[in-house]
Amino acid sequence: MEQERITWKNDLDTGIQLIDSQHKEFIRLVNSLLDSSLKADDSQTLVKAFSFLRYYVGEHFSVEESAMIAYGYPFYAMHKNIHDSFREEIKAMELTLRTSVSQHEVVIKLNYLIVNWFMNHIKVEDRKLCAYLASQAQDRHEELGGKLDQIVSYFFKKGGAA
Ligand SMILES: [Fe+2]
Repeated sequence: MEQERITWKNDLDTGIQLIDSQHKEFIRLVNSLLDSSLKADDSQTLVKAFSFLRYYVGEHFSVEESAMIAYGYPFYAMHKNIHDSFREEIKAMELTLRTSVSQHEVVIKLNYLIVNWFMNHIKVEDRKLCAYLASQAQDRHEELGGKLDQIVSYFFKKGGAA
């Protein structure tokens, strides 16, 4: 069965370079996971790719969440909840992948989740958040890109716990 590749479109643009490049990287990862799973009998490769994807999602969400806190985002709790359920979904899928005989099933589910859920999340929630961040940074006369870089390096220094 042919898997749908994920493609980047302009309506996914948040206007914030760091966030956009992380979203693009995420889509690239999912595509390579979808590609490799089509030919893979090598379940170890798939498991490794998936756990990297889970790590990456966690890191990316934490960057967004740290930015929300730094700029007092009023919809933080709601956005964080959405992230948490996505984290759980990915974790559950990784577990299924480790135990299931059918990798194909997991790949179809992943594809569905990304196309129907993650892309929509970017279009609605992330764009709303990024517009807020940009206007807050402007009000505070801060350079948002530099501030986000600081958040990211702080996150890595802390060893990944947001
Ligand atoms: Fe988000």
